[in-house]
Amino acid sequence: KTVTYDFNVTYTEANPDGQFSRRVIGINGQWPIPTIDVDKGDRLIIHLHNSLGDVETSLHFHGLYQNGTAYMDGPAAVTQCPLGPGQSMTYDFTVDQPGTYWYHSHVKGQYPDGIRAPFIVRDPKGPYAGKYDEEVVISLSDWYHQENPVLFSRFLSIANPTGAEPVPDSALMNETQGLQFNVKPGKTYMVRMVNMAAFAAQYFWIEGHKMNIIEVDGIYTEPAEADMIYITAAQRYSFLLTTRDDADANFVMVGSMDEDLFDTVPDGLNPNVTGYLVYDAAKPMPEPAEIDAFEPFDDFALVPLDGEDLFENPTYTFSLEVMMDNLNDGGNYAFFNGITYVAPKVPTLYTALSAGNVTMNPTIYGRDTNPHVFKHHDVVELVVNNNDPGKHPFHLHGHAFQLAYRSDEDAGLYNASDSSIEFAKKPMRRDTALIKPGGNMVLRFRADNPGVWLFHCHIEWHIQSGLVATFIEAPDVLQTAQKIPQDHLDVCMGQNLATVGNAAAN
Ligand code: C2O
Repeated sequence: KTVTYDFNVTYTEANPDGQFSRRVIGINGQWPIPTIDVDKGDRLIIHLHNSLGDVETSLHFHGLYQNGTAYMDGPAAVTQCPLGPGQSMTYDFTVDQPGTYWYHSHVKGQYPDGIRAPFIVRDPKGPYAGKYDEEVVISLSDWYHQENPVLFSRFLSIANPTGAEPVPDSALMNETQGLQFNVKPGKTYMVRMVNMAAFAAQYFWIEGHKMNIIEVDGIYTEPAEADMIYITAAQRYSFLLTTRDDADANFVMVGSMDEDLFDTVPDGLNPNVTGYLVYDAAKPMPEPAEIDAFEPFDDFALVPLDGEDLFENPTYTFSLEVMMDNLNDGGNYAFFNGITYVAPKVPTLYTALSAGNVTMNPTIYGRDTNPHVFKHHDVVELVVNNNDPGKHPFHLHGHAFQLAYRSDEDAGLYNASDSSIEFAKKPMRRDTALIKPGGNMVLRFRADNPGVWLFHCHIEWHIQSGLVATFIEAPDVLQTAQKIPQDHLDVCMGQNLATVGNAAAN
């Protein structure tokens, strides 16, 4: 079937933590913005109009591969021009992967102001169909009282010499606090969980209940039992939750922001958001226990249900080294291999399409996009070395990568000749993985999806300070196979980017 949405992006007001009312970015005058809900195989059409008046926008469908429709991926300056005030464009693609995703603006730093929501692809014939009675969606997020542009200019300024990231004012569950989820005894629920945070990972647990993980970032896994999940910004988990037969009380569900991420924890910050599994609304709602009562689940232990083996014999191997520093102007920047990402004027995808036979040459994409060009069907091995004492959730567009290896904290640079290092044989695949402070990790994927895909830290502060690289995958194949819709090109024309006209000629 075809599912169509008309989305008019507008400002509205909201006070989700009950402490502060502020301007937020909504859709059709509403906030929270709608959850997108489709079945696997559906065609999705979104007519997007920007009524913000003063700023650009775009939509990215986080975790969707967009195989064959790279121009629908959404990051501004990468696969499209940013949608300017008063402009319209249409996203139109078929969703052929099941699972739990989300969508958000991919104009720098914008989604924490509210333009973020779950994106659910139901799978009535999937391997776990029939194993549960009901599906529910729980989003986690962090929340700031200030608007992102204000926080960002402070973050990047000389007034912030240590590079401390702005600390959220609160945590939310389904964009609110005190969520009540009514359950019946002796039933199984499939809970789809998304962390839509700008910054904070959260520990999540439900007292008196276990979670049986069955999906991670759109990939079905062998069932794995967890007492507590650690979910970074942009990650998703689905788990089966079986309710108690004997319940004569209610139970607390807790999301707790990982305070290790914060340089300083402000006085009075409540890192927790609580919700309740409500068996009987007449009974009291309990207080949470201590966080240390639980052990977080290690996602490296997950095994994909399809049992896919580690890809062997990489044909394109490279590494990215993470650094945080300044550029002698006092501001804070983040670097991969010494490069801090600067968005190009012309979207990188349009450059790839219009570059003729030099399209495989990385230098044409500009040093500041941190470009890496793969040949079609390359087996890519990417080593990430975290030369920074912070944790980073790295996200790749266009793929779920295999997490072949992840070191402990402070392991230093990855050393390929260290024989004690063991790769997972059937590695967990996902699109966002946490690297530990001072650690490293090894990712592999097959370059079977021609397109231009960003790789970046999903902490919004770090995207804005440049922790981004561009992967240009089989641009030669793209040139013969993909054509940018006219309304997308018109967005650029409206901004006098005449050079993109070349892309239309292909
Ligand atoms: Cu959630 Cu670049 O994406």
